[in-house]
Amino acid sequence: MILIIDFGSQYNQLIARRVREERVYCEIEPPDIDIGRVKAKNPEGIILSGGPASIYEKNAPKTDPAILDLGIPVLGICYGMQYMIDALGGSVKGAGKREYGFAELIVEKDSRLFKDIKKSGTCWMSHGDSLKELPEGFEVLASTPNTPYAAIADNDRRLFGLQFHPEVEHTPQGKKIIANFLFDICGCKKSWTMKSFAKEEIARIQETVGEKRVILGLSGGVDSSVAALLIHQAIGKNLTCIFVDNGLLRKDEGKQVKERLSREFDIDIRFVNAAKTFLSGLKSVIDPEKKRKIIGKTFIEVFEAEAKGIEGAEFLGQGTLYPDVIESVSAFGGPTSVIKSHHNVGGLPKRMKLKLVEPLRHLFKDEVRRLGKTIGLPEEMIWRQPFPGPGLAIRIMGEVTKKRLDVLREVDAVLLEEIRAAGYYRKLWQSFAVLLPLKSVGVMGDHRTYDNVVAIRAVTSKDAMTADWAKLPHKLLGKISNRIINEVRGVNRVVYDISSKPPSTIEWE
Ligand code: XMP
Repeated sequence: MILIIDFGSQYNQLIARRVREERVYCEIEPPDIDIGRVKAKNPEGIILSGGPASIYEKNAPKTDPAILDLGIPVLGICYGMQYMIDALGGSVKGAGKREYGFAELIVEKDSRLFKDIKKSGTCWMSHGDSLKELPEGFEVLASTPNTPYAAIADNDRRLFGLQFHPEVEHTPQGKKIIANFLFDICGCKKSWTMKSFAKEEIARIQETVGEKRVILGLSGGVDSSVAALLIHQAIGKNLTCIFVDNGLLRKDEGKQVKERLSREFDIDIRFVNAAKTFLSGLKSVIDPEKKRKIIGKTFIEVFEAEAKGIEGAEFLGQGTLYPDVIESVSAFGGPTSVIKSHHNVGGLPKRMKLKLVEPLRHLFKDEVRRLGKTIGLPEEMIWRQPFPGPGLAIRIMGEVTKKRLDVLREVDAVLLEEIRAAGYYRKLWQSFAVLLPLKSVGVMGDHRTYDNVVAIRAVTSKDAMTADWAKLPHKLLGKISNRIINEVRGVNRVVYDISSKPPSTIEWE
């Protein structure tokens, strides 16, 4: 495995992605990781990530310099390189001017890091500080017109540094440079596959859980479904899932979970219909954050009450993904912190005194999908678009009532049917309808109507941090609008949301 020390760069997850794309396993740890823990992990190589700090700042993050003496190859990227050079007695000069964007990379020396790399190419720079003086044993491998020390190496000690970012797409040869580090320098093997991951994880779950019982909150989304199936494959009947129908779900959601997971795989699932409880809690509530709080709290109460009836539960299974884990161990709050505040079941394990089983905690979303496929989850569950915990409640502007929920559910079902039929479902990050707190005038037959307006939202995105509105064909939009107005009572106008994130968000509330 490769160990990545996270100095807070916005790109640190990308480094992990690149390493895993080469089918080498890696983990990200904060800089204050104990050196004993580093040794115990027995990495084949260490990557020191970039970061926003300047090495001479008061609170600049540092890691134990003993990490450079383990005889394990190290690749420092940007701040990571500056940290390494500073720790080894070289010097770094403060920002004269920031260098940001493309730069011409001129390779000056052959090295294993630059094997099969073109002598000139472009690279992506994003730094203020630069190296001033190299410690003994180091030499320059490459430069750019503004940065004499763009790449450096101490070949004997197998310590390497890059001022530019090989992990971003703007450095076309970056992938190759990372592969050279992994295979030529660290001697890694391409051995990390989803099949091997599933096998190891199943064994790990069996060892952790033994004969005890695991309970798991199933939402029908891909993460909790994959987690449930994997845990089920490890411990069978000792897994009990709880599916809470909060009345805020899309049409037929519970039915699908029932058919696919409990019938097909024989997973033990308790279905709890708590729609009334949620709805009465939401009565007269308009503020979106209040809605979220009430839904989160009610979920915990309902889940806890149901779990009490399950004897001998000692573990709580969760489909937590790697980005959330990294976020919580990272030295700095990254952009994902915004999304994390949405997670509304965080208080559960502590309150119920349960130990956690989180088999996906080292995976990214697309890896979870691949794992789902490997362990046999049906395609339609693997490719489900993300659906927020508070469900339709944050897609109904204003008060949430049973009547308005029913209208939105029908609208949403028509929309999804058309999006699927046109082959767009998988291409979109999310597609959904929003019920507005407005009425507009229309005419149907000979009658004047005064009815609801719905907005259609469809976005493309990689990770929900940024998103663009989808350029759906006019013909498709026309068909969606026609069908909604004709088939759903209470709606006489459909509008299409053409805002991007940022500055808008994906959801309307
Ligand atoms: P925004 O609206 O912030 O949404 O652009 C980003 C992503 O997060 C989802 N989302 C939520 N997920 N609970 C969740 O589990 C929430 O309260 C919540 N709010 C937004 C949203 O669907 C999108 O994928």
